[in-house]
Amino acid sequence: MNVPSSRGVKEAQMSAEISKAVQLLKSGALVAFPTETVYGLGADAQNPRAIREVFRIKQRPSSHPLIVHIANLELMEGWALEVPEQALALARAFWPGPLTLILKKQADVLDEVTGGQDTVALRVPNHPVALALLSAFGGGLVGPSANQFTHLSPTTAAAVREEFGEEIPMVLDGGTCTIGLESTIVDLSDALHPVLRRPGMIPSTDIERVLGTKLSLASSLKQVIVPGMHALHYAPTTPTYLINTIDLNRLLTETHEAPIAIVHYSPLLHPANSTIISLQMPANAKAYAALLYQTLRDADHQKVQKIFVERVPDTLEWQAILDRLVKACGPRS
Ligand code: TXA
Ligand code: MG
Repeated sequence: MNVPSSRGVKEAQMSAEISKAVQLLKSGALVAFPTETVYGLGADAQNPRAIREVFRIKQRPSSHPLIVHIANLELMEGWALEVPEQALALARAFWPGPLTLILKKQADVLDEVTGGQDTVALRVPNHPVALALLSAFGGGLVGPSANQFTHLSPTTAAAVREEFGEEIPMVLDGGTCTIGLESTIVDLSDALHPVLRRPGMIPSTDIERVLGTKLSLASSLKQVIVPGMHALHYAPTTPTYLINTIDLNRLLTETHEAPIAIVHYSPLLHPANSTIISLQMPANAKAYAALLYQTLRDADHQKVQKIFVERVPDTLEWQAILDRLVKACGPRS
């Protein structure tokens, strides 16, 4: 008798789930799906009603445009007015992968997707479940991070459920996201002037090497080392502060009225007292990125009064992490 292997059974289950997800998406419903960066809240990019539901459920301002996820780079033509050589070169180098390209859009790309702009953001994610879903669906899927506006992006299916409960009919579980931070966004809509709109875990120098030209920084990134300049984003619900290593060690010697959490990658100079929950992070940027959002979620669950995060180095390999930390520690209204 032919007994299916447990791998075969899992594959069959996943393919049944993908068929169900496709049916839901075709009917205009939302399905959360895993990518290598964070989980996305998927909806048919050609269905205005479904897109409006994405904005409603995320409580996201409609002026914030969405990324269209596609199954392969050949599909760019269906969304972009033209595909410049630079875009093709980046797509060939980094797709499927954690890179989003902004290009001039085709006339029929919905205003609901682009926030009324004349550009569209495109990405081919590098996750087997996302790619299987996109191939089976056959069209583009919007995929904002599957969290409420300003909250932390989810890196597990459980974190998506924590954000939305039963409000979305289906969450495809593809395990823990390996990269853990949102994709790098490069704006190529002005061919002469490529702009880094959001840093991610692909170093910008790798992108510049492929482009053969320097990226300029979006104005919001130029201010990244000045805390307080950003609206709150990617944030835990507990007030969160970025502090220097010296101040972090000073905190350890003080007693706190209510428990606090410290998220640090340096070894502590003093043992943490009983009012402090120490969350040790890796000192390696890639490993740190993969754990960051889940660690901040865990810190939130501990019901501490404040979360203090040790400032990470201001170097290229930590650029995306520092960007997210500054935003997580932004002003609260
Ligand atoms: O890694 C990722 O990119 C994840 C996964 C799920 O793919 N998605 C994600 O989507 O981070 P979201 O919606 O959370 O962030 C998309 C960003 C927003 O900051 C938005 O303003 C920007 O992309 N964006 C989208 N379309 C744009 C456009 N046409 N022009 C400029 N920025 C755009
Ligand atoms: Mg997001």
